[in-house]
Amino acid sequence: MFKILKQYNKLQLYINNYSSQNLMGKGYNNICSRKYKSEVVRIDYEQLINEKCDLEEKIDRAYGKNGLGLIVIRNVPEITEIRQNILESGFQLAHLNKARLKELERPDTQYYVGWSKGRQYYKDVDDYMQAMYYARIYSDSPIYPPDPELERKYTNIWPEELKNFKENYIKTGKAIANCQINLLKHFDKYLIDKIQTENSKEYKSFLYKNFSINNDATGMMAIYYPPSLFEHKNYNGKSDNWCGWHRDFGLLSGLLNPMFFTQDGKVVYLKTGGLLVKDRMGDINEMQYDDNEIVIQAADTLFIFSGGSIISTPHAVKVRDDIPKDLFRLNFITFFGPSFVTKIKPPGNMSFEELIKKDTLGMSNVVTKLREGMNFKDFITETFDNFVKSKV
Ligand SMILES: [Fe+2]
Repeated sequence: MFKILKQYNKLQLYINNYSSQNLMGKGYNNICSRKYKSEVVRIDYEQLINEKCDLEEKIDRAYGKNGLGLIVIRNVPEITEIRQNILESGFQLAHLNKARLKELERPDTQYYVGWSKGRQYYKDVDDYMQAMYYARIYSDSPIYPPDPELERKYTNIWPEELKNFKENYIKTGKAIANCQINLLKHFDKYLIDKIQTENSKEYKSFLYKNFSINNDATGMMAIYYPPSLFEHKNYNGKSDNWCGWHRDFGLLSGLLNPMFFTQDGKVVYLKTGGLLVKDRMGDINEMQYDDNEIVIQAADTLFIFSGGSIISTPHAVKVRDDIPKDLFRLNFITFFGPSFVTKIKPPGNMSFEELIKKDTLGMSNVVTKLREGMNFKDFITETFDNFVKSKV
């Protein structure tokens, strides 16, 4: 514990004394400028929370058939400070001793609660340089009345010894979820002409009405270890892979701008973050955004409820050439999804076969598992089976 505090104090000291010129002199400014193949659409937080603001055209440019698959929310109140607090807390979490981290594991939830390291793989790519910590934001357990044992099993486990960790975590999760909930209102307006069913009234305000209160919002601390710490020849030489190509499962995934740390806890400012996004045309774009911004990507359940109008966004995190190999990368993501009991199905009489044909990106490894009567709990647990190593 003393060691952690010592490290943390060093980190605080560094931040207090931070000067960007210091860092620029240390070789961490080798930044190349990005050229996007698709437009990055930005909206201001004040526009987002204004129901009367007409954002349909921007939503189409962001998520429609020529879009990048995400929108950037600018000027989110307090987010710069919130980000710094939670990602510093994440760095402390990563430096708890191994025995304590083991206590924070919950293998019987496929590690969808608490700590895990190197447990995920996508297709044949092993994400051995990545650790994660999951906890729910609005309540410590998911709401799933048919199975109280499942609710108990999925109850959050917190590293109580880390001062303010839980408080910072919940504050961050709620700040991102607030943006996601507000965005649902604008999606409803955008989708009203696109979802053609016999009872189109049913789809008026569908997303906001169904998910603004009854939802499952889970935060994830993503900790990417410095590639220089690993013997890559033991892992097929894939030293650029922090997180392989995949799509998320909820409605919307909200991401902070990542933060980089040296191994002794100094914050390093890079303009690049390593997040790659495949746009609707299949081209790869590298994201670059600011500390006061939140990126909101579309996920699988939104693809389903929108009848295929909004495709979930393929993404990955790679150690690009301009990211030094000796840094930690930390980020926090809120996965905003339906409640566990929610039945997931396309609108009206659309079949799953018709829906899947609308997945023009051909990454339907997740959505092909869909079946009639499936609820979100089934969907997410069966999907995790696809890429989490429960036993190693
Ligand atoms: Fe993801």
